[in-house]
Amino acid sequence: MKILLLGSNGQLGKELERQLCTQGNVVAFPRTSLDISNHKAIKDAVDCVCPDVIVNAAAYTAVDKAEGDKEHAFTVNADAVKNLARVTQSIGAWLIHYSTDYVFDGSKPTPYVETDATNPINVYGASKLAGEQAITQNSCHHLIFRTSWVIGKDGNNFAKTILRLASERNHLNVVGDQVGVPTSTSLISQVTLDAIGAIKNGRAWPQGIYHLTPQGVSNWHEVAQTLVGFAEQRAVPMAASVKDICAITTAEYPTAAKRPLNSQLDTHKLRSQLSFDLPHWKDDFLAVASDMIKELETV
Ligand SMILES: NC(=O)c1ccc[n+]([C@@H]2O[C@H](COP(=O)([O-])OP(=O)(O)OC[C@H]3O[C@@H](n4cnc5c(N)ncnc54)[C@H](OP(=O)(O)O)[C@@H]3O)[C@@H](O)[C@H]2O)c1
Repeated sequence: MKILLLGSNGQLGKELERQLCTQGNVVAFPRTSLDISNHKAIKDAVDCVCPDVIVNAAAYTAVDKAEGDKEHAFTVNADAVKNLARVTQSIGAWLIHYSTDYVFDGSKPTPYVETDATNPINVYGASKLAGEQAITQNSCHHLIFRTSWVIGKDGNNFAKTILRLASERNHLNVVGDQVGVPTSTSLISQVTLDAIGAIKNGRAWPQGIYHLTPQGVSNWHEVAQTLVGFAEQRAVPMAASVKDICAITTAEYPTAAKRPLNSQLDTHKLRSQLSFDLPHWKDDFLAVASDMIKELETV
């Protein structure tokens, strides 16, 4: 099994590069070696590697910046993905791609299922939706994993920001009215491996979109409190304790891009294919938090 991994320097890309080698020969490209918006370079790489599976972890992910940088966001998240789907189809390979809860507007009171109507409320979400549509309208074999609030030990993310701020300040305000769950890059990688294993064994999952998050429900404020409480238990020096983390509303924390208030994704469809149970978000999240704290301890 030959796997071509794109965007290998991102927080998900790095974790995938560590894990994918258990499923085959991985050829991994960071943006600096292969820009997915360079259509000729993609074709050349695919012709050279002849992959069975292309895993695309590359994306334009600067949600607020995208509001003023629409063309670039669509070039990477939509046009480049359309080309990837075309190239994947031409060699009969599988395309594994990642998308986001931001394709929804967040107005549904319950978890979103894969077939719910999309209605992005920011440019990033619109560009990711255009990427999904480019894949599903092409006849290439594909799996699209929509995930939310990605947290890994690599790269910058919410958990690292909270750990830094809680070590510098004795009071933190964190948005409490956006509902969802963090998803670790480790879990996303395990699901990707499971799906590739099924392809390898000739029992590929039905192609399409799958929602991928751990189980349970939370909000950013609870996630921040959980993290700081965990750091306290591990005796990490913190200026703020759990009680110093206060919930504020989205309206009190204006950002360039609007965020959906409900980011819950229903994972029944994924669970019907997976060979393992999805963990509860706290177990998934604290495993990554533990790695981050270990790194702090060794600095
Ligand atoms: N982060 C989240 O909270 C979140 C939530 C839901 C879904 N997702 C989705 O999950 C996937 C992985 O996201 P992530 O968190 O790993 O994001 P990330 O850390 O920002 O990684 C994205 C990677 O894509 C690379 N990239 C950007 N433009 C590229 C181009 N033109 N050609 C090749 N590579 C390019 C970036 O390169 P540089 O390193 O050089 O910048 C970066 O390494 C994405 O599809 C994202 O939309 C993320």
